[in-house]
Amino acid sequence: MENKNQLFSTETYSKRRSLLKKKIIGSGVLLFLGNQESSINFKDNWYPYRQDSTFLYYFGLNFPGLHALIDLDSGEEIIFGDDLTIDEIVWKGPQPSMTAMSAKVGILDTRPLEKMKAYLSQREVHYLPVYRPEHVVFLTSLLDRSYTEVDLEYSVSFIKVVAAQRAVKSPEELLSLNEAASITSQIHLSLMQQAKAGMKEYELASRVRQVAHEQNVNISFQPIVTIDGQILHNHYYGNTLSGGDLLLCDAGAESSHLYAGDMTRTFPVDPAFSTLQKELYDVVHRSHLAAIAALKPGIKFLDLHLLACRVLVEGLVEVGIMKGQPQDAVAAGAHTMFFQCGLGHMMGLDVHDMENFGEAYVGYDDQLKKSTAFGLKSLRLGKALTPGYVVTIEPGIYVIPELIKQHKEKGSYNDFINYPLLEKHADFGGIRIEDDFVITTDGAQLLGTPLASSSDDIESIRKAALS
Ligand code: GLY
Ligand code: MN
Ligand code: MN
Repeated sequence: MENKNQLFSTETYSKRRSLLKKKIIGSGVLLFLGNQESSINFKDNWYPYRQDSTFLYYFGLNFPGLHALIDLDSGEEIIFGDDLTIDEIVWKGPQPSMTAMSAKVGILDTRPLEKMKAYLSQREVHYLPVYRPEHVVFLTSLLDRSYTEVDLEYSVSFIKVVAAQRAVKSPEELLSLNEAASITSQIHLSLMQQAKAGMKEYELASRVRQVAHEQNVNISFQPIVTIDGQILHNHYYGNTLSGGDLLLCDAGAESSHLYAGDMTRTFPVDPAFSTLQKELYDVVHRSHLAAIAALKPGIKFLDLHLLACRVLVEGLVEVGIMKGQPQDAVAAGAHTMFFQCGLGHMMGLDVHDMENFGEAYVGYDDQLKKSTAFGLKSLRLGKALTPGYVVTIEPGIYVIPELIKQHKEKGSYNDFINYPLLEKHADFGGIRIEDDFVITTDGAQLLGTPLASSSDDIESIRKAALS
């Protein structure tokens, strides 16, 4: 059986590890936990396997049963794991030997798993935050620590070096991200061409998977395919599409090297938007374009977010749902009635890249700490952008009846919200437009095949599809 993902060159992995060793100050052992199979409802019924992204970045191999380390004192780089037993080969088929597959990523020293504990004993062990319960259990035994100690004693200096290295994408990573975004773009075009009244959301959710699987890749996260686009992470697919609905699709493919794509399109089930749908869609689209036009190295993503919020409010004031000065409305947080989340996030081997390290180390830095205010607390990325960063831009308008009710009862934002008009449209739903970009030396470049995003272009696709 061949490896399930494509590998970059051997040199790529060796160079990544050399750079890491150069940047890390200190001694001891860097530990890279590989992911294991994870059970769904009984031991041998597994979730689809996905390797840990940091393990993939430095050691490439998308197989369970592996852990790796870099010894900062001796310079040794070791993959621990066992060749398959004959029993395992009977059930799973053969797999490249530990020696053969490790050589492909430049590791010549492989050792049985049972030797790992002895290697680490009496050593200072640095590990990244642990997000799988199986790994917490494994580390308690490997390091003789309590659950709480394992949970708390990850290495911040290790996180910072890895986060800085993984954040800047190399040309070969960008090719892979481009592949992911192009397949993602095909997914969305296919949905826009196939959706029609009477279909169930799950028929289109299954189409998301089909477009990816037909190209022998996975999806990068569970798709959102919903006529209730105001529910931010809605994974329910049981509604029937009707004329007058807006369908919000947020979906992405994972490339053959396991990099993510993440795009959203919102379109009418009818051939055209209704008047209000078009007005609000165009507001989101203007905000999307304004944020994209301002993307460049050095700009803080927080400032882009606030710019996108201001453009949203300007549009909502024109439509009449908001009132007052847009700048003041954003300063007061009134826009969070409609835009409760952030403008975007970093993307790479994870759709929310490196979120397992904690946003404080990925989206923020020593100069900029994350706000705890409603809205801004959901902005995953705030810090200044650097060439090679890959980010999403995904403004939206989400009309949430419960939030309107709560704010109205509390008397919040009376100066900025036209409650009578908003309440008339409390069942409006949600709109999001999302694309993926790499920051270049003087601006930004769209990843993947460009896909219609203006209301006119979306309507052209819908009219052609339904004619
Ligand atoms: N797909 C989740 C997001 O857009 O962040
Ligand atoms: Mn996203
Ligand atoms: Mn998304």
